[in-house]
Order: sequence, then C-alpha cells, then structure tokens
Amino acid sequence: EVTGEPLPQDTLKAAHDADAILLGAVGGPKWDELDYEHRPERALLGLRSELDLFANFRPAILSKYLTSSSSLKANKVENLDLLIIRELTGGIYFGEPRGRTEGKKEAFNTMIYNQDEIERIGRVAFEAAQKRDNALCSVDKANVLEVSVLWREVITELSKDYPDVKLSHMLVDNAAMQLVREPKQFDVIVTGNLFGDILSDIAAMMTGSIGMLPSASLNSENKGMYEPVHGSAPDIAGKGVANPLATILSAAMMFEDTFNLKEEADLIRRAVDSSLEKSIVTEDLADGNKAFKTSEIGDWLAK
Ligand code: IPM
Ligand code: MG
Repeated sequence: EVTGEPLPQDTLKAAHDADAILLGAVGGPKWDELDYEHRPERALLGLRSELDLFANFRPAILSKYLTSSSSLKANKVENLDLLIIRELTGGIYFGEPRGRTEGKKEAFNTMIYNQDEIERIGRVAFEAAQKRDNALCSVDKANVLEVSVLWREVITELSKDYPDVKLSHMLVDNAAMQLVREPKQFDVIVTGNLFGDILSDIAAMMTGSIGMLPSASLNSENKGMYEPVHGSAPDIAGKGVANPLATILSAAMMFEDTFNLKEEADLIRRAVDSSLEKSIVTEDLADGNKAFKTSEIGDWLAK
C-alpha cells in the first residue's frame, strides 16, 4: 500500500531490483488531511523519480464495442487510436525552487526543462511515431513560456534525425480543444509533465470510460511501472463496481514493453476485447444493461 509515509528501504530496494511494477491507483479522502509532504501522491512521484521513469506512455484506444460509450459523437471517435507520451520526471512537478513564502500567503513552483531531458523524451516519441503512422505532434505553450520555447527548439532540431516523421507543434490550449473537436487528427502527442497529465485525462474520456486507460512509465532500459491513468475513485471504493480494465490492460503493456512477451500481451487484450463484445462490463460501461462486479470481470477474463 502506497501511503504518505516515506517508502521503507526494503520496498525501495525491491522497486530497484524489479524489472516491472504493477500499481493500483493512489490517494483518497482517508489521507486528505495529511500535510502536503505526507500525501500518498508524494510516494508515487518519489517512485517515478527514484526509478527514473521519464517516459510515460498513455495510449487512448477506443474499442469498436464502446463507440457509443464515448462522450463524443461516434463518427468523431470511431477507431480512435492515439498515443500520448508524457515526460514524467521533470517539469513543474519536480522543478526547484518550490515552496511557500514564510509569513505571507504566497507559493511558487518552477517549470524547468533542460536540453537533455527534452531530447530523451523526444527520441522516445519520434521512435514511437516511426512504429505507428509517422506523425508526431509536440504540445507546448511557446507563446508564453520560455521553457516551451526551448522545448520547441530542441524537438525541432531533433526532428532532423527522423526525416520520415512528420512533426507538428501545437499550443496546449489549442490541443485541448482539438482533442475534443477532431481527436483522430492525432497519432502521437509528446508533451511535458503537467500538460500531459491534463491532456491524458481528456483523451481517456474518449475511450468510453476513464476506467479503460492503461499506462506505462519506462526508464531508458524499458524497466517500468505500470498503472491505470485513473485515480483511486474513493467514492466507489469497496463496492465492487470499479472497472478493472485499465489495470488489466496495464498488465498487458507490462508483458509487451518490459518482458517482450507480445503474444501474452495480445492474449490479455483479446480477452478484454471479447468481454466488451459480450458486454461483460462494470456499471460505467453497462449503459443501462446488466452490470457485472469487478471480481466477476476478473474471473471471466482469467477463464
Ligand atoms: C496521473 C495522476 C498523478 C499525476 C497524481 C496522482 C499525482 O494524476 O498519473 O496522471 O498528476 O501525475
Ligand atoms: Mg492525472
């Protein structure tokens, strides 16, 4: 259980020794009263940073059985398959200085990226685009932020190494709009930590339910931590109604990305797909039909 207590040494050691970690969601009202330093999110961010998991993959794929569950019109999202690559160990999440000014009500964070950090996430994104449709959109706020001006320069320079990939740039406010206006214009999106956090929640909703989106956070050797994009949904905790598919699909990513077991990964994905086809789904996707319990879905998939 990832709580706000500092991670015990043996846990940290196990994390370092592991090839992959599969994590549920963190946080909840039980810990809301804790001061900032002790919130469970600190432990999650600590793991990401400690293990150098800088490359966060958040695919948003709409199953053909869920087209009508999306909050967007079917023709806008049919066959949607986009990949958000979010820089995960830098930017405003970790920038120094950060804190509160003593004595007055003032607080500050720093959005900072250096060339190396941008380049390494950029390479991951260009390479991912090469395995897909060779189109990469880099999202920033270069009309306002110096850090984004540098981001854009470095990504543009890098694109010379990947002449087969069509690179475009988009401001983040426009990207948020374009995602709900015409999501299929995107193939791979690469962006910084905070923008990626926000845009991936938008993309999640297009796939029918936020309970559908897996993620992989990888270091430079493809060791990784795998977690659903959604939060811990404290309002439904313990009721057996949470959609387990994002976590299960995260396990599929783990088989493929860290263990190189593509066939096993596809088996999991196919099982998930046939559960959707047969409407063996939790209430978020049931659309008025029979809703199954979390554990029933798990049992069905395992079988
Ligand atoms: C996510 C989450 C986390 C983040 C929280 C829980 C710290 O929203 O993984 O998207 O902001 O990165
Ligand atoms: Mg988030």
